[in-house]
Amino acid sequence: MAQRTVTIVGQGYVGLPLAQAAARADWTVHGLDVTQSLVDQLNGGTSHVDDLSDADIQEMIDLGYRATTDPSVVSESDVVVICVPTPLGDGGSPDLGAVKGASRTVGDNLSAGTTVILESTTYPGTTDDVVKPILEMASGLTGGTDFQLAYSPERVDPGSKKYGIKNTPKLMGGINDASTQAAVAFYGAFVDEPVAMNGMREAETAKLLENTFRHVNIALVNEMAKFCKELNIDIWEVIRGASTKPFGFMKFTPGPGVGGHCIPIDPNYLSYEVRNQLGYPFRFVELAQEINNSMPRYVVDRVGELLNEHRKPLNGSDVLLLGVTYKADIADQRESPAMPVAELLRERGANIRFHDPMVDTWKLESGSVVREASLEDAVKEADVVVVLQAHESYDLGKLAADAKVMLDTRGTAPAPAVRL
Ligand SMILES: NC(=O)c1ccc[n+]([C@@H]2O[C@H](COP(=O)([O-])OP(=O)(O)OC[C@H]3O[C@@H](n4cnc5c(N)ncnc54)[C@H](O)[C@@H]3O)[C@@H](O)[C@H]2O)c1
Repeated sequence: MAQRTVTIVGQGYVGLPLAQAAARADWTVHGLDVTQSLVDQLNGGTSHVDDLSDADIQEMIDLGYRATTDPSVVSESDVVVICVPTPLGDGGSPDLGAVKGASRTVGDNLSAGTTVILESTTYPGTTDDVVKPILEMASGLTGGTDFQLAYSPERVDPGSKKYGIKNTPKLMGGINDASTQAAVAFYGAFVDEPVAMNGMREAETAKLLENTFRHVNIALVNEMAKFCKELNIDIWEVIRGASTKPFGFMKFTPGPGVGGHCIPIDPNYLSYEVRNQLGYPFRFVELAQEINNSMPRYVVDRVGELLNEHRKPLNGSDVLLLGVTYKADIADQRESPAMPVAELLRERGANIRFHDPMVDTWKLESGSVVREASLEDAVKEADVVVVLQAHESYDLGKLAADAKVMLDTRGTAPAPAVRL
């Protein structure tokens, strides 16, 4: 069989690993993006996402992968996958600008017989009510007959050594059965377990349930962390005990707040749509947001308390923040709670210093900070050290022993570190 061609629209954290998987499965891959500098960088063999190295990009190029800003590649593609951002707009409403723009680009260049798949996280109904009409209008073709259309949410776990595209089951729901099967045929080339869903809305909502589940459960332990502190109960020991139950319990741990492109944003897509269509709130999401968003302030209050115990004011103290990315062992800083923690500390007069093996210069709204040259010296010098992200390279036992006082928001540092 002749080699088949896929265009992946959006070459970011989601689109690029997908391009790699498809290239390795013998597809001819076009990586379509609107950012010329990114396209040049990729074609020059340089990666910009955590999970792919420069050698991975070079391997993709050797396999025939090319990044491009030229949308005409769509017309020669058997499959087109849209992986563009779905951020929040003004007032926290979904911003589908990139999805609409990408759909128009695809529609303008669409040939009959192509399968179009949306991977961007979005509210239920987007593929049918937003993407399909744009594709049909721009192409003059009809979805479900002239071209196939499906939704397949991304489930990437950035930085995970255990789960990648291949061994993570993947959901796909089409506009009709032929569309679902077309998506299964595409992903089946490199995903061990494609899961056919009965509908697109169900596939869209399943993704939002997964992220809302994490959001709500993190909020649950965060709220418990606060009142357990007041009750003089060790929340970390509580969680360790509960986690020994082999059924009916799943472990989540407290922290300085939620970050990344998914958890703080995606549940809003669902709550917005529930309110928009039905007029009432999705209360779990709103409560989870309130609690998780309160955590940076709670961390700052705890830092103030600890300094107070050592007869020091927050105002004028050197606070060293360790780990400012949104997740351990990855460089992605999007929505990282470290940001509001730092801004709140600065508002209270603290002198912010930081260390993160993944970040050289940390861009804060109130001004950038350069990483401490020596982690060891910085830990010894700071009035208080705050562990926000327990990167693997940190020897937290040694750092806790060297620090004047350490607040550990992740529950991984041994005593004398004080836990959140
Ligand atoms: N990052 C994750 O861990 C993750 C996990 C699951 C789902 N998602 C979802 O996947 C989608 C993509 O997220 P991401 O993290 O890859 O975003 P990203 O910002 O890393 O990459 C998106 C890319 O799309 C490009 N782009 C924007 N508009 C475009 C257009 N009209 N045409 C072509 N390219 C365009 C941008 O230049 C950028 O390179 C989002 O809906 C996100 O919620 C992300």
